[in-house]
Amino acid sequence: MNEASDLKCSGVGRRALLAGAAALMPAGAALAQQPPAPKNMRPQEGDLLVRVSGEGAGEPVKLDSLVINAPQILAWPKDKASGTVRDGSRLNQVLLMRFDPATLDEETREHAADGAVAYGATCPHAQCPVTEYRKDLGVLHCPCHNSEFDPRAAGKVTGGPAPRRLTPLPIRLDAGEGVLIVAHPFLGKVGLSAT
Ligand code: FES
Repeated sequence: MNEASDLKCSGVGRRALLAGAAALMPAGAALAQQPPAPKNMRPQEGDLLVRVSGEGAGEPVKLDSLVINAPQILAWPKDKASGTVRDGSRLNQVLLMRFDPATLDEETREHAADGAVAYGATCPHAQCPVTEYRKDLGVLHCPCHNSEFDPRAAGKVTGGPAPRRLTPLPIRLDAGEGVLIVAHPFLGKVGLSAT
């Protein structure tokens, strides 16, 4: 009889195994329950969106600074209370654009702020950043393998190998300060991550 069948048949062996597993469970469960560091957390409701680079880098994005139908700008979420910029994971990076609200489909308009829309900037195919906008076609373009997404239609895939849409991020306007704020976490997982 081999070791496996010994354990299977032996009541003592089975009890010992169960006791061992129980002893290990609290540590494993505690590890699983630990929240990620604030820097690594995906955008949270109430976060500001601050420019990644260029003029005004690190500053919150104002609605009025977004030009209608211009290429995307990139932003990091930032916890307003602690000042933590959530740049610990590139999957947290967000792209922002603005359109005439009348050109947005119903779902997109629901999550937009006066025509401004936000999506995870990471391609769901192989996690390249979605860096290009084809203004003539009105689609976002990922240069790695040519996936395309419609920013007026909730990030729908319009071409290429991407297996699913670009992940929408609902936003709203802070009317007092004129800045854009996260209204709800991502509507789906980002890139190839589990969240
Ligand atoms: S990573 Fe974007 S199309 Fe492949």
